[in-house]
Amino acid sequence: MKITKKYKIVSLFSGCGGMDLGAEGGFAYLGKRFKKHPVETVYATDFDKSICDVYNANFSLKIDVRDIKELKSKDVPDHDILTGGFPCQSFSVVAQNPRRLGYKDDRGKLFFEMCRILKDKKPSVFVAENVKGLLSANKGEAFPLIIKEFERAGYHIKYKVLNASHYGVPQKRERVFIVGFKNKKTYDRFEFPKPVTESNPVPLSMIVLPNHEVEEKFYFSAKAVNGMSATKHSKTMNKGRVQKLHEPSNTVGAHLAKVSLNSTDPVLQVNGRYRMFTPLEVARIQSFPDSFVLPGSRTTNYKALGNAVAPVVMWHVTKEIIRALES
Ligand SMILES: C[S@@+](CC[C@H](N)C(=O)[O-])C[C@H]1O[C@@H](n2cnc3c(N)ncnc32)[C@H](O)[C@@H]1O
Repeated sequence: MKITKKYKIVSLFSGCGGMDLGAEGGFAYLGKRFKKHPVETVYATDFDKSICDVYNANFSLKIDVRDIKELKSKDVPDHDILTGGFPCQSFSVVAQNPRRLGYKDDRGKLFFEMCRILKDKKPSVFVAENVKGLLSANKGEAFPLIIKEFERAGYHIKYKVLNASHYGVPQKRERVFIVGFKNKKTYDRFEFPKPVTESNPVPLSMIVLPNHEVEEKFYFSAKAVNGMSATKHSKTMNKGRVQKLHEPSNTVGAHLAKVSLNSTDPVLQVNGRYRMFTPLEVARIQSFPDSFVLPGSRTTNYKALGNAVAPVVMWHVTKEIIRALES
């Protein structure tokens, strides 16, 4: 495979840059090198200032902090690949004939902002990532309409739910990846990456910190444990909250900022005590390299990391996109 071109990437809803890091490559994770892809991120944007600070601490490109609704297409640089995990909002698709998205109040919702940039800038490829629940949103009616809208923007679409634990990430995170191509031949060539660790997933024990490196503040108090013990969850810590070290972790989400023993957040049990994951552990569960800097408050870091696309999964997806573009 001869790689000749450097593809320009524009990143929307960039958060702390999990998707951007994965698309670019050039990082190490769990002793493995994920090589640099022939791409260059030329523009990134998000409206959350504190999360943008995390982005800026890790990339030479400075992120444009603004609401996407205020982003004019003419201010977006020309590019080849548009990336973005548009936040999943509910869509009205009821009582319409023919059924479509964007009826009345839905106009201006963030999904349409991504479509707007696609229509105006016409990059060769786009990648959108979202929660698996998007497939069943609006009783399963929204997703086909989302795909139709992307097709109307001029793209041939493939989509697939990818489980991060199948790609060497110690987390059972399932996310839908939607990839669109302007060119039909490139679309025909593209295949989602084949699983690499489906039968031998990386266990959580690979990334958990030794006890002496975990500060006391990450442990739940006796009061919190007693409170939990009084509930029906006490015996089993059911809903999968206490994580098994020999398996990948349950999905870590932005909610970890408010982790509690009485919710479904994943927690650890160490020597009979309960504790939350540290931000460094969440970063590792998400496949960020240890070199990824986490400035700002713990709350910001949990939110940024929990919302991120697992870089290693995005790296595999990007590798296949480049293969399709180059071959
Ligand atoms: C799922 S997160 C994206 C994570 C990112 N792709 C990553 O891999 O790290 C969605 C992002 O959309 C941003 N967002 C939500 N509404 C927005 C808006 N109106 N304008 C710009 N960004 C917005 C949020 O701040 C959040 O960082």
